Amino acid sequence: MNTLANSPLAPLLDRLFAEADTATSPAMAALSREERNRLMHSRTEYLHLYGLLKDLWLPVSRETGALLYMLARSIGARDIVEFGTSFGISTLHLAAALRDNGGGRLISCEFEPSKVARARAHLAEGGLADLVEIRAGDALETLRSDLPDRIDLLLLDGAKPLYRDILGMVEDRLRPGALIIADNVDFCPDYQAHVRAPGSGYMSVPFAEDIELSMRTG
Ligand SMILES: C[S@@+](CC[C@H](N)C(=O)[O-])C[C@H]1O[C@@H](n2cnc3c(N)ncnc32)[C@H](O)[C@@H]1O
Repeated sequence: MNTLANSPLAPLLDRLFAEADTATSPAMAALSREERNRLMHSRTEYLHLYGLLKDLWLPVSRETGALLYMLARSIGARDIVEFGTSFGISTLHLAAALRDNGGGRLISCEFEPSKVARARAHLAEGGLADLVEIRAGDALETLRSDLPDRIDLLLLDGAKPLYRDILGMVEDRLRPGALIIADNVDFCPDYQAHVRAPGSGYMSVPFAEDIELSMRTG
C-alpha cells in the first residue's frame, strides 16, 4: 500500500507543488535580505514575519516530503505532531504514512487562518482529513494540552527560533526511538547544539539539505 503514489494524493501533490512554485508575496519581496534574515532569527517578531509570508507556501521539498513518508512508515508511526502546517504539503505526506500504517493521529499547528482553511481543504481532497487535527493558533499555546501520551514523530517546520521551545513542550512524550525532523536548521543553531549535546537524550545528525534528523534515545 502506498497512498502517496496513488490517486487522489499523487496528482493532488503534483498540483500543489506546482502552485507553490508560482506563489508570490509582494510584501516579502519588498524586504531587504538583511531584514528578512533578522526576522527569521527573531524570537519576538515571528507573527509579523509569517504575516508577511502568508501567501507563500514554503513547503518541504519533494525529496523531504518523500523522506517524511518513508520515516513515518518505517517506524510504524501512529502519533505525529507537526509544527508549521502552511498549505498542508508536509501534512499530506505524514498523513499518507499514517493511513498506510493502519491509522493514527496527526496534530498539526498553524496560526494563519487562511492557511488553516486551505490545508483542511487539501486534506479533504486527498482523503486524509480523518487522520489530521489542525490546531489553529500559536503552537506555543495550542500544544499546551491534549497531546498523545506517546509521540512517534515530530516535524519542526514553523518559526525557526521556536524549535527548542516546541521540542521542550512535547519532549516527555517522545517515545524511545521517536524521530524529530527539523527543517531549515541553519536558522536555529541553539536547537542543533541542544540535540547534538552529549547527554541530551538524542542522537542527531545533519541529513539531506538543511535538515537535522534526531532520535530520542531514552
Ligand atoms: C515553512 S512553513 C510550513 C511548511 C509546511 N510544513 C509544508 O511543508 O507545507 C511554516 C509555517 O508555520 C507557521 N508558523 C510559524 N510559527 C508558528 C507558530 N508559532 N504557531 C503556529 N504556526 C506557526 C507559518 O505561518 C507558516 O505557514
